[in-house]
Amino acid sequence: MVEADTLQGEWWKSAVFYEIYVRSFRDSNGDGIGDLRGIIDKLDYLNDGTPSSLGIDAIWLSPVHPSPDYDFGYDVSDFSSINPAFGTMEDFDELLREAHDRGIRVVMDLVMNHTSDEHPWFMESRSSRDNPYRDWYIWRDGRSFRRPPNRWRSAVLGSAWTYDRDTRQYYYHAFLKRQPDLNWRNPSVKASMFDVARFWLDRGVDGFRLDLINHLVEDEELRDNPRCLGRYPYEWQEHIYDRDRPETHQVLKEFRGLLDEYGDRMMVSEVYAFDPKLAASFYGEGDDESHLVFNYDYLFTRFAAKSFRRVVTEWDNAVPEEGWPALFLGSHDTPRLFSRYGRFRDAWSRAKVLAALLLTSRGTPFMYYGDEIGMSNCHIPRWEMQDPVGRLVWPIPMGRDRCRTPMQWNGGPFAGFTSGTPWLRVHRSYKHRNVEEQSANEESLLDFYRRLIHLRRRTPALNRGSMRVWGGTQKIWQGVPLKYLTYLREHGDQSILVAMNFHGRMARLHGPSEDGHFSRFNAFRTIFSTHQGQDEFSDLRQVVLAPYQVLIMEAVGST
Ligand code: BGC
Repeated sequence: MVEADTLQGEWWKSAVFYEIYVRSFRDSNGDGIGDLRGIIDKLDYLNDGTPSSLGIDAIWLSPVHPSPDYDFGYDVSDFSSINPAFGTMEDFDELLREAHDRGIRVVMDLVMNHTSDEHPWFMESRSSRDNPYRDWYIWRDGRSFRRPPNRWRSAVLGSAWTYDRDTRQYYYHAFLKRQPDLNWRNPSVKASMFDVARFWLDRGVDGFRLDLINHLVEDEELRDNPRCLGRYPYEWQEHIYDRDRPETHQVLKEFRGLLDEYGDRMMVSEVYAFDPKLAASFYGEGDDESHLVFNYDYLFTRFAAKSFRRVVTEWDNAVPEEGWPALFLGSHDTPRLFSRYGRFRDAWSRAKVLAALLLTSRGTPFMYYGDEIGMSNCHIPRWEMQDPVGRLVWPIPMGRDRCRTPMQWNGGPFAGFTSGTPWLRVHRSYKHRNVEEQSANEESLLDFYRRLIHLRRRTPALNRGSMRVWGGTQKIWQGVPLKYLTYLREHGDQSILVAMNFHGRMARLHGPSEDGHFSRFNAFRTIFSTHQGQDEFSDLRQVVLAPYQVLIMEAVGST
């Protein structure tokens, strides 16, 4: 096997990314809030160049800019400095240096759709109708007394328009009213935001995660969206005029041009939509927009081979040939992976199956901090809730604090996250479920992630090969529906077969015997498995998977 060099061109294709929710990762100064020096302290845990560290290649930092924290950093009040709660610009530069020394790339969150209402641009904008910054945001007269300009809804709650009494107009906000949307039709907005990006690229950051990018530009005439059926009020409209506009693609193409000037920097776009085709459109024509795009479909999939087979293949087919899929199973906005599938006693085994899917199917995996030790949703009582969005919409859905609790480093006070009082309660599982404990245990989920990430790194077929999926359909074998998912990853002359049993019962591989592609292989040799067993198979039909087994084999002796 060849060592894959993730620091070479298009490094984001073979890299494993790790999302750090900065407030919750590690507090270095005892104020209860995670910070940049805390991250520096833990870089060796993430990758110290040896197989005993996790081995990730890049970190994505949640926003680190000053913010009044109505949306914990996603309401930025100054794009070109560091939130003092997280540290200083010197700390940031040191983090970059230290990370790069370890071969870890650093990607920042870039919130281009909106600012905080405390950003100086907005304060100017709202100060009078003829202020030069007025047109930097979207201001309109109401349709009539107390009637906003149109029926667009905020993605959180209620109308997307807020009335400003002083200037007697409404401003638009796709999210909270504390997050006014920028007017991307104004060239000065684009120029300033592109300057912000340059500022950080010049400092050496390796790319951006673009927040809510499909919301960037709205219909110029502000037409009402057609009504439709949906679960939440936000879904009672077909969002064809307030997001996913063609003009956004134009901006993305220009932004890609800016990144290309810097050579090897990247962007990953958050497209908040549950439609893989729509998400894939943000790769552009061929590959002239985002390098990677998140597909939210992955987060709402049942734990079943058939369902994951559908999601994996749909996404793989949707991404343009020149593009490359991003894979994610959790983030700071969604319930914890472990809790989504872990209500049963098989939770740890299921977590391993999904980790395997994330790390071995075709695409770039994005892990969420703590998923590697099975951190689960934490019940936060209403009176302790910090997430303003959660407080607003409580009790449905339950808010996002539950997936943002402090990282569980050890079984000591506050899980080793802080020497002070943490900003959010620590999950009570920390005494047994923590990094220290799992580092010493070869059966642990952490060890599983570690071994798989290192295997992926040194196996080109796994980190950049093609993929051919089969299994997982409702086909019946001896009266039992097939409950496993298998795919073949190939690169050069290397062929790797991954098989995952999504079921609590044994499963014999049906074998893709009808697929001529496989007839050229003489045998398959096990290179990774969750269970002890046979090491070599001359026929895939000999393979019997134990409950929730993950088995990775290399094809040998191809003819
Ligand atoms: C971020 C959220 C944030 C929202 C508004 C998202 O998609 O991930 O955490 O609240 O954008 O900025």
